[in-house]
Amino acid sequence: MSFTAPITLPGLTLDLNWYKRSVFYEVMIRSFVDSNGDGTGDLAGLISKLDYLQWLGVDALWLPPFYRSPLRDGGYDVSDFRAVLPEFGTIDEFKELVTKAHERNMRIVMDYPLNHTSDQHEWFQQSRSDPDGPYGDYYVWSDTDDKYKDIRIIFVDTEESNWTFDPVRRQFFFHRFFSHQPDLNFENPAVREEVFNIVRFWLDLGVDGLRLDAIPYLFESEEGNGEGEPPTHDFIKELRAMVDRDYPGRILVAEANQWPREVAAFFGTEEEPECHMAFDFPVMPRIFYSLRSQQADELVRILSETTDIPSDAGWGVFLRNHDELTLEMVSEEYRQAMYGWYAYDPRMRSNIGIRRRLAPLLDNSRAELELAHAILFSLPGSPFLYYGDEIGMGDNIWLNDRDASRTPMQWTPDRNAGFSTADPGKLYLPVVQSLVYNYSQINVESQLAQSRSLLHWIRNVIHVRKAHPVFGMGDMTVLQTNHESVLAFVRSYEGSGTHFGDQPEDVLCVFSFAHNPVAVTIDMSEYAGSALYDLFGGGVFPTVNEDGTLTLTLATQSFYWLHIGEGGYRR
Ligand code: GLC
Ligand code: CA
Repeated sequence: MSFTAPITLPGLTLDLNWYKRSVFYEVMIRSFVDSNGDGTGDLAGLISKLDYLQWLGVDALWLPPFYRSPLRDGGYDVSDFRAVLPEFGTIDEFKELVTKAHERNMRIVMDYPLNHTSDQHEWFQQSRSDPDGPYGDYYVWSDTDDKYKDIRIIFVDTEESNWTFDPVRRQFFFHRFFSHQPDLNFENPAVREEVFNIVRFWLDLGVDGLRLDAIPYLFESEEGNGEGEPPTHDFIKELRAMVDRDYPGRILVAEANQWPREVAAFFGTEEEPECHMAFDFPVMPRIFYSLRSQQADELVRILSETTDIPSDAGWGVFLRNHDELTLEMVSEEYRQAMYGWYAYDPRMRSNIGIRRRLAPLLDNSRAELELAHAILFSLPGSPFLYYGDEIGMGDNIWLNDRDASRTPMQWTPDRNAGFSTADPGKLYLPVVQSLVYNYSQINVESQLAQSRSLLHWIRNVIHVRKAHPVFGMGDMTVLQTNHESVLAFVRSYEGSGTHFGDQPEDVLCVFSFAHNPVAVTIDMSEYAGSALYDLFGGGVFPTVNEDGTLTLTLATQSFYWLHIGEGGYRR
């Protein structure tokens, strides 16, 4: 893409790299604000809180599915890809959301579960009842349940096989997820065409990007394991080419829960790109591992593996989302350690992961919450926050499956936490009333009123990050240290010269996972003699020694972000 200068569209600055500079916020419409008192959050409710999100510093929203759906998998079981679930609102309200977000220079990325549908979808109903009809070949049907033996089961808590017998068609259908979510047959050109048309439908409405849900699983084969098989990559390349041609500036985000090399494959190559962004599944669990093991080495190892990606590709880094904290991408030994630290009650587990929110995982430790966010906001890639984590919301492990961390947003200490005026019994899920995370204590209103609250702290970090384009745009070099608990890296950026304030900058980021104060010596030979200034307050730090070493002391579970360079640093 050749034009890099910012172009202004009505209400939105067109910057082809916007996703690299953005702070994303995942918000489930059902969980945020109920505008009409029926007990369920809705589009109008979300619109009413755009000012709050803008104040926080959010640049883009990721909306999990809000299509028509029987909601047996939180909306990831879609029964009509062109309709909004009536309890969430209407297409017109969605358009209004897009317009109002764009007025605030905020983007909308919506989820698109393209791999499967609900069994209530018209296509499936037709497919099962009329095998020779136009939809007969839309799904993966078989007379036996023994094809694709090497394909693993994902929802191990609920599913015993990836095949389920359909008594209507009297054949088995294939499903990677729940047995009420049949996989679409991507071998069928008609299915691929439907997908292109659905993508066009939403991009035509002004959506800025799509999260491609469960993207590795589109094609399956006898030889492969059904994850990122060659035809799946070929299909994404075609989709990307269409988006680049007809909708430049819109993005595709890959949800691929895989090892670094496999995830990076979803970026494609410079010549044949696939997704603009991919979630960094390998890094996420290692942040949690380091916090408890007090060891930085696993994180260092994985960070060195994930750096080599095409120039316009960006990672989506996250601590939590609407799913369980997945432990699929760690070794058995690490998994057992993490279950021990973070899921000591079996109720906290779900499939191969942990169904808890961030604050309870970190035992509500302010130091750990700050440290985890400091890492999130300075790693290469764009941070994705999960709604409610900015106030340290709790969870409810007595609820079913991943509903544990999908409870209503806590706005005020009033009825239903200010989420809804409905009879409390009517809410889609109860608000959190636990001892520590009770909505009377943990809510936006009360944190707004306390200048040292987590909410104000997170807003401040977001704004510091945004003042330094190096965090979104720069490279990363991991540094050697003499302390096993310390992670240190330099982010550096040459500056593009095309964006206002897009200065070249080098920033040293140092994190201590130790549960006690430490002194550490860092190898900074490239920066011998450089001055260091704190990014938050501008405070002057010791200069890097002439021999290239730097010795710092860090308080328990703390961090520094330091501007490197001569000539002082003004905020
Ligand atoms: C993705 C979603 C998850 C959903 C699954 C099946 O992994 O994040 O919530 O259950 O796809 O669509
Ligand atoms: Ca409602």
